Amino acid sequence: MVLVRLLVLSLFHMSLGGSQPTQSSQQASSPPHPAGGQQSPLGTSNLSFPWSRLRLPRYIIPLHYHLLLHPNLTSLSFTGSVQIQIDVQNNTNWVVLHSKGLQISKATIVDQNLAHLSDQVLPVLHNPSHEQIGIFSPRVLSSGQKYFLYIEFGAELSEGFYGFYKSTYRTSTGETRTLASTHFEPTSARMAFPCFDEPSFKANFSVRIRRSPEYISLSNMPVVNTFEVNNGVFEDQFDASVKMSTYLVAFVICDFKSVTATTSSGVQVSIYASPEKWPQTRYALEVAVKMLDFYEEYFNIHYPLPKQDLIAIPDFESGAMENWGLTTYRETSLLFDPLTSSISDKLWVTMVIGHELAHQWFGNLVTMEWWNDIWLNEGFARYMEFISVEATYPDLKVEEYLLHTCFSAVGHDSLNSSRPISSPAENPTQIKQMFDTVSYDKGACVLHMLRHFLTDDVFQRGIVRYLRKYSYRNAHNQDLWDSLANTCSEEDFISGKHCYSSSQASKNAYLFAGEHMDLTAMMNTWILQKGIPLVTVTRKGSHLLLRQDRFLRTVLPSDRLWSTLQQGFLWHIPLTYKTDASSTIHRHLMTTPTDSIHLGEEVSWVKVNTDMTGYYVVHYEDGGWDEITKLLRENHTALSYKDRTHLIHNAFQLVTAGHLSLDKGLDLIGYLQLETHTVPLLEGIGYLEAFYRMTEKRNEFDVISNLGMYILRFFRAVIDRQTWSDRGSVSERRLRSEVLSLACHLKDPPCLERAHESFKDWLQSNGTLNLPTDVADTVFSVGAQDDHGWVSLLHTYNMSLSEAQKSKILFALTCSRDTNKLHRLLELGLEGKVIRSQDLSSLILMVARNPRGHHLTWNFVKKNWDTLVQKFQLGSFCIRNILIGTTGQFSSPEELTEVQHFFESIKEQASQLRAAQVALDNVQKNVRWFQRNLETLRNWLNKQLQ
Ligand code: BES
Ligand code: ZN
Repeated sequence: MVLVRLLVLSLFHMSLGGSQPTQSSQQASSPPHPAGGQQSPLGTSNLSFPWSRLRLPRYIIPLHYHLLLHPNLTSLSFTGSVQIQIDVQNNTNWVVLHSKGLQISKATIVDQNLAHLSDQVLPVLHNPSHEQIGIFSPRVLSSGQKYFLYIEFGAELSEGFYGFYKSTYRTSTGETRTLASTHFEPTSARMAFPCFDEPSFKANFSVRIRRSPEYISLSNMPVVNTFEVNNGVFEDQFDASVKMSTYLVAFVICDFKSVTATTSSGVQVSIYASPEKWPQTRYALEVAVKMLDFYEEYFNIHYPLPKQDLIAIPDFESGAMENWGLTTYRETSLLFDPLTSSISDKLWVTMVIGHELAHQWFGNLVTMEWWNDIWLNEGFARYMEFISVEATYPDLKVEEYLLHTCFSAVGHDSLNSSRPISSPAENPTQIKQMFDTVSYDKGACVLHMLRHFLTDDVFQRGIVRYLRKYSYRNAHNQDLWDSLANTCSEEDFISGKHCYSSSQASKNAYLFAGEHMDLTAMMNTWILQKGIPLVTVTRKGSHLLLRQDRFLRTVLPSDRLWSTLQQGFLWHIPLTYKTDASSTIHRHLMTTPTDSIHLGEEVSWVKVNTDMTGYYVVHYEDGGWDEITKLLRENHTALSYKDRTHLIHNAFQLVTAGHLSLDKGLDLIGYLQLETHTVPLLEGIGYLEAFYRMTEKRNEFDVISNLGMYILRFFRAVIDRQTWSDRGSVSERRLRSEVLSLACHLKDPPCLERAHESFKDWLQSNGTLNLPTDVADTVFSVGAQDDHGWVSLLHTYNMSLSEAQKSKILFALTCSRDTNKLHRLLELGLEGKVIRSQDLSSLILMVARNPRGHHLTWNFVKKNWDTLVQKFQLGSFCIRNILIGTTGQFSSPEELTEVQHFFESIKEQASQLRAAQVALDNVQKNVRWFQRNLETLRNWLNKQLQ
């Protein structure tokens, strides 16, 4: 199974139109005019909001926040106060900072001697469209002085998943308990307290939380003192934090239980979960301790806080969040239940912890200067998942998944709607959308290419230099390239530090296969330019002729748009290749549109982009693919499993783009009957399954039935080899899970029979029988086909204490062929009680995967669009997944028109959403795929099944 994981009660109120500048000629570095040194009347009738930009002025720097919060978990509201020490760097009467949805009841400013600048509370102006407030000081705040800004505020706990929000869970006795938690990244700290909510305003935070005695409170730092404030109200005082960005602040008030252990360097690690889920925390504790130990050694930098808490929050929109010292997780991302969690669940938990703990260095210690470079956080954290899990849990064979990270990047980047890794993002909707495949997966893949190019050792030393140099600060891309190239400022150079001067470095640069190269120039082609190159290889005698173009899956060279879309694209590609002549990996840096390599000897085959350590697609022209097909059939082990997997992926990407005919791709995977490695096998099966699932959603009955028959016949031996157990290596377990799920979906009689039998046993045990975890979803989805099975599963779903179990059951429920049941599920998801809102987007995706639920889901999304946007916010993960997921299987011109009409009807929102363009590109690609390949597929199948 591929589980889809996927107010203002201020003194004065003033709102400005978002696009109406009040200060258009103002430079970001200069303050608004001071209103003079004397007291002015504290009315606002003559005051207008002093700042027109989205980003805050740079001349007021927050240094230290003293934050007090008092949530009321009965009335579901909170009050608070914040005292912010600020450093004023230009004379001004205004302090402008962020605040969203907070009722500000009081604002004052005192100077260093604690003298009030005004006898009265200060006027607060609001600009809700920019989520800013402006506090007016009648006395000028003087350049070079420090002040304390004091604000009192309050609000309701947020209903969604951002800011300071409420979450609930039900105990096994049916009681509902409430907790309050935070999620601030990227721009929601301003929903919990007024602050300078931009990543480069790093400051120290001293937090205090008031609570009643039945709760505990957690924050980034440990509690240093607790006392009773008054009858039944306790205050926890947390230690002052290190310097950090606002988006990393966190606090939770709950009644959870924890387990604790200590790392070898003495960091206290605790896992928190709701009391009844506490037994599922053991695995996470082991992982977190190992990972912290690993990262401290790999980065050669101590984790700077005394503790790290990891907490499973019952309502959590995304997967996890790296708040410094208090990482928060969706329950499925942290809890592991030995009885119901599968091997994929285990790998997921391990990778998520690896990801969030990598952020404690990449992101928390060193932060990107601005959200346009969020890849410096997320690309690194994604890549470190692989490095850390490989080192700490080698048995999990995480390296087998890296190619998929790159494949998903290619899928996105080969559409015109893609974007450069580093792209402008100013408002919160644009910023949220930066957390996408490009920042995460392409970021990780490009780092993989860079690491391979520099060697592991040089890469590691370079990133350690980067982390050390920019600790507690912010960084740009250039800082990373300079650290990797071991360059430094002229100053450092003169003072004898061990690095190159930057001017020397640009000349000096790297040697790659004897060629000089400039790291910055090379990396700019990957970071500042969107898309992925296609390297076309032609053999000419002893030469390999090379050409690079931009790889696009929706446009062919014969199309009118082709040349426009190609213009100006050029990459510095660190090429690698292997031939049959030796086991050496050859290297060549390609920096021009065309190039040639002298092979030097007679070779019978060449495989370019060894193990896909480079981020480019390769096309072998003039019979090149035939040679490769022949090689795979005759001697596939001459190539590594990564090379074989890469070839399969490459071939089918070229098919979609129209560079290779579908039958050549299908012929290439003909060798799979000999394949014993899980990764290439699953890659080939995955493409056939994808074609099946697409045709299944059209009325091409002969193709559907022939393709199903072909897959079952072709992979008969693999299917028959599988056992219905949890035995074997990780790879074997993963193969079993995927193969049996597909076999039952294709109605393979032995598979169905076995699944029915297991489901019957499970029913008879009243759901107490523990099925083998890797095949449980398959058993459940077969069982969900009749009324009794479906209802029993829904009942167990409602009662289960294991989120791992629940997600398998939910998947099974969405496999029903009964559209009424599918509709009921969607309604339950929208209601958010039995099926939590956090699971709605993956529920929508799973129902959309079902041919019976496909159009039903699309209609549901259209009908409930406003509610969905309100629940999840426009630029969020969820809205993106919903749009791309529900349209992803459309493949007819009518469906394309339908999607276009919908986007037309929500024009204002659609124009802000990259996902709308991605969805359209995707459908267009599918339409072309069918126009080009359906007949070929039909004929090819007829030939095979003769
Ligand atoms: N920093 C992100 C959390 C986040 C996601 C913040 C979206 C703002 C918007 C966190 O480190 C992350 O990447 N979480 C992933 C899970 C992870 C394993 C890739 C997520 O939430 O999907
Ligand atoms: Zn992350």
